[in-house]
Amino acid sequence: MAKLSVNIDHIATLRQSRDTAYPDPVEAAILAQLGGADGITVHPREDRRHIQDRDVYLLKQVLRIPFTLEMALTPEMVKLALDVKPECCTLVPELREERTTESGLAVAGREAKLQPLIDPLLDAGIDVSIFIDAEADQITAAHSLGAQTVEIHTGPYSNAKTREAEDHEFQIVVNAAEHARGLGLKVNAGHGLHYTNTTRVAALPAIGWLHTGHSIIGMAVMVGMERAVREMKTLLNEAGRAA
Ligand code: PXP
Repeated sequence: MAKLSVNIDHIATLRQSRDTAYPDPVEAAILAQLGGADGITVHPREDRRHIQDRDVYLLKQVLRIPFTLEMALTPEMVKLALDVKPECCTLVPELREERTTESGLAVAGREAKLQPLIDPLLDAGIDVSIFIDAEADQITAAHSLGAQTVEIHTGPYSNAKTREAEDHEFQIVVNAAEHARGLGLKVNAGHGLHYTNTTRVAALPAIGWLHTGHSIIGMAVMVGMERAVREMKTLLNEAGRAA
């Protein structure tokens, strides 16, 4: 059965939009853990636009479920990962202008450049996963770099505008997952998965973990709205009675 690692970056985005102490992604992670999350994922970006180093260190201390650091493959991020020692590092490309990770990490043909940054993570016993487009040559290159895991980029599947296009992209994910499994890689998937497109990806026998964030945080806002308003109304009512 596929496991769920909940990406809590969007809680941090909300916090950073006002530089407040709330909502705290560490608290959100603990609630996600209570709700049955199998793991927690965060992506400390190089510009620290959402997740802060404080979040990363606290999460490593408090979580009782596997912790995945999604990160650009840079010396700074490798240093952070070696200090924090998450269970898994998912290597992603990172562009400053992008709103979210837009493509898999291009590894084919760049092995000589990437290997020296990947080796220290492997030597530290961290599960190295490479976020990858659903393409056979990229998956084969990830394997040759010693990564134990690939995370297949489900963005094109999630963004498909018609049922036919979605079916087409799904088949590409299936083929990639089978190719990776054939090489002996562990296979994860993620990006853009939501409440109506997740189940058939989760049902694929090759899939180990799904990394999902945006849709879950969006749902949390909706299911929590009524209670949040009621609690503020209670404060107003109490203030009115005291006046
Ligand atoms: N996997 C990777 C590598 C990502 O970059 C992201 C987005 O941070 C996710 C999974 C989760 O995507 P979403 O927030 O769309 O569920």
